[in-house]
Amino acid sequence: MSIPNHILEQLNSQADLVSIIGRHTTLKRAGGEFKGCCPFHGEKSPSFYVNPQKNIYHCFGCSVGGNAISFLRDYENLTFIEAVNELSKQTGIEVPKEERQNVSYQRSAPKPAVSKTTTPKSSSLPSVPSPAVDQSNLSQNSTDQGGVKQSGIEQSHVQASYDDAHSYEDYPPLDAYDSAPYPADAYGSEYPDDTSYPPAWLSDSDETINLHGMDNSADADGNLYDLLEQIQQFYQNSLTTHPHAKHYFLSRGITEDIFETFGLGYAPFGWQHLEHQFPQDIEGLKALGLVRQSESGRDYDLLRDRVIFPIRDNQGRTIGFGGRALDDEVKPKYINSSDSPVFHKQHVLYGYYESRQQRANDWLVVEGYMDVIALYQAGIYGAIASMGTAINESQISRLLTLNPTLTLSFDGDSAGQKAAWRTLEVALPVLADDKELRFLTLPNNHDPDTFIKSQGGDAMRAQIANAIPLSQYIFAYLSERYDLTLVEGKAKLMSQVRALTMALPKGSSFKYLLNNDIYQKLGGKRSQNIEAKDALLDFDGDMTISQQLQLCFLFQPRALLEDPIESIWQQAGISDLQLPAHIKQKAASDTLRPLAWEDLQDTDLLDIVSTIKRCLRYLPADANAAAHFILSNVRPMTQETLSRSWGGFYKTLTARNILSLDELVENLVMQLLKLHLQKKMQELIKNPDHIKLAIVRKQSQLLNDWLRAQQAEQSAQMTTVKS
Ligand code: UTP
Ligand code: MN
Repeated sequence: MSIPNHILEQLNSQADLVSIIGRHTTLKRAGGEFKGCCPFHGEKSPSFYVNPQKNIYHCFGCSVGGNAISFLRDYENLTFIEAVNELSKQTGIEVPKEERQNVSYQRSAPKPAVSKTTTPKSSSLPSVPSPAVDQSNLSQNSTDQGGVKQSGIEQSHVQASYDDAHSYEDYPPLDAYDSAPYPADAYGSEYPDDTSYPPAWLSDSDETINLHGMDNSADADGNLYDLLEQIQQFYQNSLTTHPHAKHYFLSRGITEDIFETFGLGYAPFGWQHLEHQFPQDIEGLKALGLVRQSESGRDYDLLRDRVIFPIRDNQGRTIGFGGRALDDEVKPKYINSSDSPVFHKQHVLYGYYESRQQRANDWLVVEGYMDVIALYQAGIYGAIASMGTAINESQISRLLTLNPTLTLSFDGDSAGQKAAWRTLEVALPVLADDKELRFLTLPNNHDPDTFIKSQGGDAMRAQIANAIPLSQYIFAYLSERYDLTLVEGKAKLMSQVRALTMALPKGSSFKYLLNNDIYQKLGGKRSQNIEAKDALLDFDGDMTISQQLQLCFLFQPRALLEDPIESIWQQAGISDLQLPAHIKQKAASDTLRPLAWEDLQDTDLLDIVSTIKRCLRYLPADANAAAHFILSNVRPMTQETLSRSWGGFYKTLTARNILSLDELVENLVMQLLKLHLQKKMQELIKNPDHIKLAIVRKQSQLLNDWLRAQQAEQSAQMTTVKS
């Protein structure tokens, strides 16, 4: 399988290199880069750098260096294909099964050239339905081309007559176009000059430059990037020759220098303008989705009479177009060109390249093209928009790598707020403790574009600076949806928060802080359980449940005086499980006995539990002394792992004056039991034993019911009204 270079490039540039390498060595931010000890050679002081902008790494110690694919290949020992597949999975970029899908396409034979000085056969009207305005422009255009040296820019002085301004009703629907006679001959007159190649508007001089950098023969391949660049120039040029389009942008307050920066353009009226500008590139135009085929098999342009926003990749190459109707009543308001071998919507951020050119580092996600441009024009760089769909997890994750704080702006209407909430849900899994999301909702249903127009750039800057943090946003959003004068409302809100925070990454202390913050806002008191959990997280957020529990036992061995498993088993009512007679008869006695520590198959945990149980009666009263006593009695392996973390843990707990861990122990044991029952169910489904499965299901159900009841009780204890 040979993979096209552009796909490899996309994989390397979209990969989250910092987290891929971060799995193997600790990386710390150092300016715009990340720095750490080189995973390839043993070193004590960091000389290994990852550059998230270029998505490459380099070690100044041993001079290894490369990109995401080379790292997976060289460090994780994947084959090239495995590395490509892995990145394809991570980024969602599809690796084509066949080589066919490529940036190159077959160009067709050139049409016989028509001399530039040929007088247009102007009288014969095209039989294709076409608004008068277009003709006047095109003939104006062709007259200008008659020998005068000019560039696209110079053409801007051309004053086409727009008095007979178009009305949108004149604009023929697709079926009218379909039923019209085939216009092949007519085009000779409507586009008198466009069979000469390259078209005059592309040339800087009278000399014919070969813009493709290749010959025009049919068998030379075209390149989609080159074609896109030329279409971009054609649209941009059309803006200068179609004053009504230029006027549209001006009327929205965009200044002419911005036209250039964003490459703004105009796609003229007419069903086949692209085909006539690029007669040899039909296959390329179709691959880009810019030329479509109607039901009757006739080709037509996707974007007609729309102002054009070129969409660029991170390197500034044009990869697609967005087109906006000039009239707000035309539906759809925006049309984006479809995904193509070079354009993958879900990876593109509109405005990213332009922002980077301005060395932007504070990213602001907005909804539309016009918002990006209005912010840029106001000197607020770093605004980006996704392509008509909501921004996705990988885009958010990438932006958070560039800057740990990301601001999201949404319209104030209910659709905008729903989008904000969806985005929040999407972002949670990548929101590690060092990252921060902020939410901006502009007043009076403004979007950034309209806000800047009415209040100015400085007011907008102030709005961005005052965007509210995620925790506040969640509370504000939910408290509008529940009646917080009722205990039930508070409980519901709390359960939503709990469900939300479940999505935060493993080891996130934000999970606990947020739950607790909102709990307190609802009038709840901070429990020692939560204090203890925070202490554990501050101490080492990556510990497993089992490790956390071991440390708790070491600090508070008396939690084992009454066996926590037995106690949960009883409280949840699993000990006196009521079973139908036919199951009871067939059930082996071991299936019905209470769960024991041995069943959890966790050697370290079992070691410490049985050691404590053996010597519980002889333990010194002082917690520190007791811990040492226990440590000296466990297996050397357990001793080693525990003594490494024990000191720090003890310090953290005492610093916070946490005297009892009972609640936390119960919570941790509970989680272990849940996991154990789940695992057992899976085994029993794989190797079916229906009697056992029925029993374990029932046990698991009782456990969950009890857990829910506990949580409800906790929420119901909250009595005071929200602050
Ligand atoms: P909005 O409808 O919010 O419009 O679309 P807007 O950005 O304020 O546009 P203006 O100011 O009226 O020109 C937000 C974004 O959603 C996508 C576009 O990317 C747009 O910028 N969109 C919208 C579409 O893809 N298709 C549509 O029909 C409408
Ligand atoms: Mn708008």
